[in-house]
Amino acid sequence: MKKNIVAGNWKMNKTLPEGLALAIELNAALAGAQPNCDVVIGTPFIHLASVAEAIDTNKIGVAAQNCADKESGAYTGEISASMIKSTGAEYVILGHSERREYYGETSEKLNSKVALALANGLTPIYCCGEALEVRNANEQNTYVKNQLEETVFNLSADDFKKIVIAYEPIWAIGTGITASTEQAQEMLAFIRGLIATQFGHEIADETSILYGGSCNAKNAAELFSQPDIDGGLIGGASLNVADFKAIIDAF
Ligand code: 13P
Repeated sequence: MKKNIVAGNWKMNKTLPEGLALAIELNAALAGAQPNCDVVIGTPFIHLASVAEAIDTNKIGVAAQNCADKESGAYTGEISASMIKSTGAEYVILGHSERREYYGETSEKLNSKVALALANGLTPIYCCGEALEVRNANEQNTYVKNQLEETVFNLSADDFKKIVIAYEPIWAIGTGITASTEQAQEMLAFIRGLIATQFGHEIADETSILYGGSCNAKNAAELFSQPDIDGGLIGGASLNVADFKAIIDAF
């Protein structure tokens, strides 16, 4: 059975005390609750160990927002997948459009990152999604297909089964413009169809595919009601517990 997942991506927000307080507040809000989805929070690297220590990780999974494309060694400033795993984190967000755009992440680098994440027992939350010009030219399907074919479609079926896909149209990220429910459903159904062609229907039906981009407490229920939308990757609205909890409760 594919899982429903609501995953927060804090991006570069919150000092360590602020982040710890946010995680502890969320943990308290979920104590005694039985959400109909898995809950994940993607914190900055420096928060990972403290957050994983402070919360019930059986209830809230912890994610890094990136990992190195190298295993270990003389790569000043980088954080490896095994380091992330050693903090208690179980997930890593990879291929976010902000990393592709601002930090030059290529498909080649992402292939190494995905492989290292999997080798170290982390679940990649692999992001794809097109820019506004691509959508305006109605080329979003080809664009997303290429992004997947250059990266995670090269995995073995057994490895592909371990990943989560997140579709985040760049034009909807942090803009307040959400893809319409129809646009989101249509793209996620398209992605599931591609997975079916590549890996078969069984794997396609079991893959969790998330939508991200201005998903909030108001629009989450409608988005999550769609047959191919298995949850959300949430930026801004994951930074306060009331909004994030309302999104979790939308399932
Ligand atoms: P917003 O929810 O702030 O639009 O961000 C989405 C996102 O990029 C999550 O990874």
